[in-house]
Amino acid sequence: MRSLDQLDVSGRKVLVRVDFNVPLKQGVEGSEIADDTRIRAALPTIEELRGKGARLVLVSHLGRPEGRPAPELSMAPVVARLRELLPDADITLAPRVVGEEVRAHAEALGEGELLVLENVRFEPGETDNDPDLARALAELADIYVNDAFGAAHRAHASTEGVAHLLPNAAGRLLEREVATLTEILERPRRPLVAVVGGAKVADKIAVIDRFLEVADTVIIGGAMCFPFLCAQGHAVGDSLCDDEDVEHARRVLAQAAGAGQADLELPSDLIIAERFSAESPARELDGVDVPEGWMGLDIGPATASRYATVIEQAGTVFWNGPMGAFEMTPFAAGTRAVAEAMARAKGLTVVGGGDSAAALAQFGMEDQVDHLSTGGGATLELVEGKPLPGVQALNGAGVL
Ligand code: 3PG
Repeated sequence: MRSLDQLDVSGRKVLVRVDFNVPLKQGVEGSEIADDTRIRAALPTIEELRGKGARLVLVSHLGRPEGRPAPELSMAPVVARLRELLPDADITLAPRVVGEEVRAHAEALGEGELLVLENVRFEPGETDNDPDLARALAELADIYVNDAFGAAHRAHASTEGVAHLLPNAAGRLLEREVATLTEILERPRRPLVAVVGGAKVADKIAVIDRFLEVADTVIIGGAMCFPFLCAQGHAVGDSLCDDEDVEHARRVLAQAAGAGQADLELPSDLIIAERFSAESPARELDGVDVPEGWMGLDIGPATASRYATVIEQAGTVFWNGPMGAFEMTPFAAGTRAVAEAMARAKGLTVVGGGDSAAALAQFGMEDQVDHLSTGGGATLELVEGKPLPGVQALNGAGVL
């Protein structure tokens, strides 16, 4: 993978694939950005390229408009936010993704100026990795830089196809994400601890498998602990627990009992309630046999403190997935305890995007971990050991 250090961009048009797929909310004047983390994460690459005299064409998807223009998914609010973040920059929103008019805008760019293309998923060819769309994108620039780590698991025209048509390099964000996540899997400071939570075992099974092999301890939290507890013969009451997940859990428990595998840590106490609601009175359960008519909605205090100790003593911690229904205050303590232990830990702390990132944001602790990944699916696929097409396409393609 080439880095920006190997590019001469002065006066050149650089097509930068960014992941500006940010959460939106409805404001008085239409869609507004609910969380601009991904936009801020792309600024180092944008600023570096501007500083070196590049003429920038930015391209991203936003939501899933399925190949049709959808005004509520226009890049307009992103451009408005970019203008606030880069007050000295000249930033234009292109009327479309590709075509004559857009090419003229790109041609007219001065050094350090930015053109933001419309949502690339307005084009039906994007998700099909259509060569014609890839060519039309390539015609807008001289060089391609991919900084969209969050979309690197997609083989789309703007993340994969176009990389083969232009001299290319990785942006700073993509470079840092890949380096950090690869490092913790291949050369971790030990003990390596993986904290895996969330609702369904099936969604994280490949991540759990990988960490059973490479980590020293795998900690399980969130509703996905119930299939494990059920497989061990405990009652789960009305907790989330389907047969497919119990089968996965049974296999993982058998595998974890084998030689050379990580220790698997499961809850030993819980917070339970009668309904999935902040209004439903919560109580501590000393043990993990959930009574009929009740459901487990968080790990209990003894489990939280045991998990926190393991995290604090780790050389490296990777965390993906909450410990309970953290959006509701009565069930947030377990996830908060993990976040606080991550903040206190002396080892390298890495948070793998998605709900754990949302939990850190809710607690105002985003700055208290060493690496907060901007990827959701991309982070999980990299950890699972799957090749990321957006990263692979950067290898050796294009002549400088
Ligand atoms: C994400 O938010 O995970 C990425 O931007 C990819 O989005 P997608 O799942 O719609 O491809």
